[in-house]
Amino acid sequence: MSWSLLGQFKPRMGDRSVLPRSVVWIHNTLRLFDQNSLHFPYKLRYIEATTPEAVADAIRDMNVRGAPAIALAGGYSLALAAMRSRTKSSVEFYAEMKRVGAALKRTRPTAVNLANVLDRIFTVLDLEMEVEQHKKRILEEIKRIHAEEEETYKALSQRGSKLIPEHANVLTHCNTGALATGTSYGTALGIIQFAHREGKIDHVYVTETRPRLQGLKITAWELQQLHIPSTVIVEGAAGYLLAKEEIACILVGADRVLTSENPPYFVLNKVGTLPLAILAKYYNVPLVVASPLSSFDPQKKLNQIKIELREKWEITHFQGHQIAPDNTHALNPAFDITPPDLISAIVTENEIIYPNA
Ligand code: MRU
Repeated sequence: MSWSLLGQFKPRMGDRSVLPRSVVWIHNTLRLFDQNSLHFPYKLRYIEATTPEAVADAIRDMNVRGAPAIALAGGYSLALAAMRSRTKSSVEFYAEMKRVGAALKRTRPTAVNLANVLDRIFTVLDLEMEVEQHKKRILEEIKRIHAEEEETYKALSQRGSKLIPEHANVLTHCNTGALATGTSYGTALGIIQFAHREGKIDHVYVTETRPRLQGLKITAWELQQLHIPSTVIVEGAAGYLLAKEEIACILVGADRVLTSENPPYFVLNKVGTLPLAILAKYYNVPLVVASPLSSFDPQKKLNQIKIELREKWEITHFQGHQIAPDNTHALNPAFDITPPDLISAIVTENEIIYPNA
């Protein structure tokens, strides 16, 4: 794994997005924009990953994060593994790719997008084919998925912006922007981007999103690049804000939407979404979930879901410095589950779903 410094980021003229691409396949290497480098003083950098192990590390360490971007990185990681495979046997090759896929799925188990992308890539492989054909098909398929994702988030963002009233103050949680999708547009932040272009956004409030601070470090930066006025709050201030301010709606993303539960549409998203949803219900503020269909899970039931528990140092340390007393116990779930009765609408690329209609 090697790094390349991006230095001071300057958007390229005519580029559809003013933001760096977070997942780029170039010269048979996977270039990942290091989202951990997004903090003051800004030394933005890319990771040049050439092995599936390096990609798995980047997913675990959250250099690449956001369910869709993780899924794309995982798909390209399979292409890296394919290129490095030396076997001539299709059966052995297929088994090798299955092992790589299984290891990738274990990196961060909660979001479903990665599993959906890997499973789709395996549908284009059949054991009758030569190994070289397999390798070609894997890269073609992940590139095809990436291109489709570009249209998916544009369509989702345009559709969702229709829900935003004029002169809206909105609140968003974590980071759901273009960096989190690996494309030009985000999900919840994509809706905000389009609504802002339509002149409907007065102000965006962003939760800092402890403990990894995706809201403070990434969303605040993306909104500045997009010239959208914003203010960061600590999660604990959401109640104060909803009591004081005219918040038109709360916009969040999704890592997994359970559609086989009864009732359907339990949403797994960044920890802190559930308390926001309860506050929204209390203050009668709509909670809008922006989720591509690739985050929908028609199989798993609530009792089969694995919520990622991350290391305690993310809470007990700050920027690498211990801030808590020695031997402090800390519980660090990365996601929580919001039930459908607290969700006003789910915006997908194809439709808007009203779980309580
Ligand atoms: O732990 P993270 O930063 O990967 O969590 C990200 C989220 O929860 C996002 O809301 C979700 O992945 C959607 S990103 C478009």
